[in-house]
Amino acid sequence: MEQGSPHATRVTIERLGHRGDGIAAGPVYVPGALPGEVVEGAVQSGVIAAPRIVTPSTDRVAAPCRHAKACGGCQLQHASDDFVAGWKVDVIRRALSAQGLETELRPIATSPSQSRRRAAFSARRTKKGALAGFHRKASDVVVAVPDCILVTPALAAALPLVEALAVLGASRKGELSVLVTDCASGLDVAVSGGKPLDTALRADLAALAQDHGLSRLTWDDETLAFKPAFQSFDGIDVVPPPGAFLQATEAGEQTLRAGVNAALESCTHLVDLFAGCGTFALPLAKRARVHAVEGEAAMVRALDQGWRQAQGLRHVTHEARDLFRNPLLPDELKRFDGVVIDPPRAGAEAQIAEIASARVPKIAHVSCNPVTFARDCATLVAAGYRLDWVMPVDQFRWSTHVEVVSALSLQD
Ligand SMILES: C[S@@+](CC[C@H](N)C(=O)[O-])C[C@H]1O[C@@H](n2cnc3c(N)ncnc32)[C@H](O)[C@@H]1O
Repeated sequence: MEQGSPHATRVTIERLGHRGDGIAAGPVYVPGALPGEVVEGAVQSGVIAAPRIVTPSTDRVAAPCRHAKACGGCQLQHASDDFVAGWKVDVIRRALSAQGLETELRPIATSPSQSRRRAAFSARRTKKGALAGFHRKASDVVVAVPDCILVTPALAAALPLVEALAVLGASRKGELSVLVTDCASGLDVAVSGGKPLDTALRADLAALAQDHGLSRLTWDDETLAFKPAFQSFDGIDVVPPPGAFLQATEAGEQTLRAGVNAALESCTHLVDLFAGCGTFALPLAKRARVHAVEGEAAMVRALDQGWRQAQGLRHVTHEARDLFRNPLLPDELKRFDGVVIDPPRAGAEAQIAEIASARVPKIAHVSCNPVTFARDCATLVAAGYRLDWVMPVDQFRWSTHVEVVSALSLQD
């Protein structure tokens, strides 16, 4: 750390932190800076909040989105695609290596721009009407993002609708949270934080939904359903409950599914753990019997409905079960020759331990957290599995998130 111009400290960025900030010795955190860059600015509480870039990195690019400076939706628009891809792969490599694991890392699959099919917009009433968009970086101020290049064109075009919802149903000072999902039959919209529904508001919302051709509008806990809000999992239609988990992009979902299929190619009787609404379970049932287990009963019902209405699938059984508290035990797992496991960020410590004792031959492990993924893989490797390959999947372009799909197989 050196003194630069008066009151400014000059530092060299050593690495990126997990929130995408540059980190220099100290540590000093520098938002918007990249490794190798020399930057200067006033340090306050270990942060240079407004850095001047003295020596830019060759990985620095002009942000492709015109909203990038103000909007808090993306953290890494100032870095080249190659840099971001390399950094994400490295996050995974380091998480594995911290557990003593090494394997084939397949090339990262990054979803294209304008492909995020779900966005959580915020909206507030203003003197003139309403403002909808994403939060400014580290702030509760809402920034309009009409030309957002992250979300699908249909989602970007939904901002006037989100504003109209705020005009009708946001309280004077409160903020609406509006989850909008792209859906073949029209946008699927789930609103929280609005005024309580009464007869007049219900009627106004119904009219607005009709004008905008929405497939579904949910207001807190009440669903004003208009058309079935289908998602298609490899050609199998399912109507997820409002706001239920959905892979962030269609391209990412297809890549994850291809990876799961490759890992379980030879299997004929599968269990899908943390199955959601059947993203993997239902397409796998085109060729194998599947038992799907998921914590949310409403998602299990959606999966079951999708299976009943589809043609030509093998038998799919299911159960709603808390897999943290009540994981499937070896006696229950022994009848399967393959497992899909796709837990939330916390990973699946308890369930992985049972799979390791059951010695199910093949595992397709999907994860959105490299650290818990590596921890859970280490348990399996210690129990006699080989981590055959890991494929990084980036559905969260320009953010610091990364996902993986991987294959493990039991060694003799
Ligand atoms: C990352 S999502 C994956 C869902 C599904 N595999 C998909 O691709 O759409 C994780 C899923 O785990 C479920 N879940 C979270 N905690 C759980 C628990 N304790 N027991 C069972 N399921 C849980 C969530 O509801 C969610 O559907």
